[in-house]
Amino acid sequence: MALEKITWKCIIPGCYKSHESRTLAKSKKKVSKQSSFQRLSLSDVSDPSSPLCADDLSNSLIASKLHVFSLAELKAITNGFSWSNLLGEGGFGPVYKGFIDNKLRPGLDAQPVAVKLLDLDGLQGHREWLAEIIFLGQLRHPYLVKLIGYCCEDEHRLLVYEYMARGSLENQLFRRYSAALPWSTRMKIAVGAAKGLAFLHEGDKPVIFRDFKTSNILLDADYTPKLSDFGLAKDGPEGEETHVTTRIIGTQGYAAPEYIMTGHLTTKSDVYGYGVVLLELITGRRSIDRTRPSREQSLVEWARPCMKDTRKLDKIIDPRLEGQFSSKGAHKAAALAYKCLSHQPKCRPTMSNVVTILEALQDFNDWFVRPFVYVAPTENSSNQYPVKDERIRSETEKDGNEENGIHCHSNNNGWRPLVTYSDTSLYSRFRNEF
Ligand SMILES: Nc1ncnc2c1ncn2[C@@H]1O[C@H](COP(=O)(O)OP(=O)(O)OP(=O)(O)O)[C@@H](O)[C@H]1O
Ligand SMILES: [Mg+2]
Repeated sequence: MALEKITWKCIIPGCYKSHESRTLAKSKKKVSKQSSFQRLSLSDVSDPSSPLCADDLSNSLIASKLHVFSLAELKAITNGFSWSNLLGEGGFGPVYKGFIDNKLRPGLDAQPVAVKLLDLDGLQGHREWLAEIIFLGQLRHPYLVKLIGYCCEDEHRLLVYEYMARGSLENQLFRRYSAALPWSTRMKIAVGAAKGLAFLHEGDKPVIFRDFKTSNILLDADYTPKLSDFGLAKDGPEGEETHVTTRIIGTQGYAAPEYIMTGHLTTKSDVYGYGVVLLELITGRRSIDRTRPSREQSLVEWARPCMKDTRKLDKIIDPRLEGQFSSKGAHKAAALAYKCLSHQPKCRPTMSNVVTILEALQDFNDWFVRPFVYVAPTENSSNQYPVKDERIRSETEKDGNEENGIHCHSNNNGWRPLVTYSDTSLYSRFRNEF
């Protein structure tokens, strides 16, 4: 059954100055229908590019959950948008840390916030700002970042979010000079992000996130992930429709191949993007890395042959994990990523399938580190290495798995995988196979 389209004008009384003559009775009727039955979608906005003023928005149902800030207030709480408060910068513009004290707004607790400021010379604009407000103003979930408020003054457009203490997953996963994220944390992030996507996909009115990637997964102090950036989000297909057709936008390396080819967008396009992020968590590599040899630049193409093969999986697991991960969990996670990255959208799992599979592997603990006594080789000692080590070396060479100086090897007598770190030659670690 086709639902009556509810327009933005009806939801926000008086939001379009040219339509002030519209009857209040009509708008009230539609407002109640919207509020009781369904979420307002971006497509309901008759003309998303039309500027709305702050007063218009503040009268809306959506904005009733949000705080409206003035530019002067946001300037004050970010220390004048100072460089020292800068958290990062993306396509929308710079993001600054700010501090709200309990005097700023009644009902708004004192807290740190992130203030995103539209770059007036950038490629994004009012439409992306509005999309963020329409989606995040209505959708609340533990795995979606919380939008606290916004500012709309003249041409200025700002968004105020809860502050996420550990920044983006991109920074945490790929930052060079910090400890690697442990396996259990990676899996915690994978499950939480999957729950966020499942919530979007499986609501009454599905939402396609469209820009799922590590920089859009923010982490709070205890590494709970939350999805951010709804600027490119789209309402999913309704009724009999199988997809929505859109212009092709997103981020290279994460966009599903069929979406790039046809512009047809489905929730399964997000599942593909999720598969890329899961693979990034497993390998510690970026989806596209131009600094690597050409055949390794596309993570998916490089990893695909190894993802389902238990014997080859060690070749692609993040060496920074130093062997400290669950073998069983890694195999299951890689097989899941493989399914998410299927060329056929129909073969990809739903996000609730993903959640179920990942939740089951959270508790795998089939790894532990044994102390290893390193015996420094003496002159002519090369032929005195234990037989096991010797065999590993030769099989490793056969596998050609010498990358990063890490050698991985399977044996058949219960010890495995063995990872030796030849760059330092200081220690080796054994893990039991279960
Ligand atoms: N709520 C927040 N709390 C803490 N840091 C944040 C928050 N939102 C954004 N950031 C920081 O600001 C950076 C820029 O975020 P932003 O979402 O604008 O761009 P991006 O995700 O890096 O790029 P893109 O425009 O392609 O999405 C993030 O990488 C993150 O480090
Ligand atoms: Mg982002």
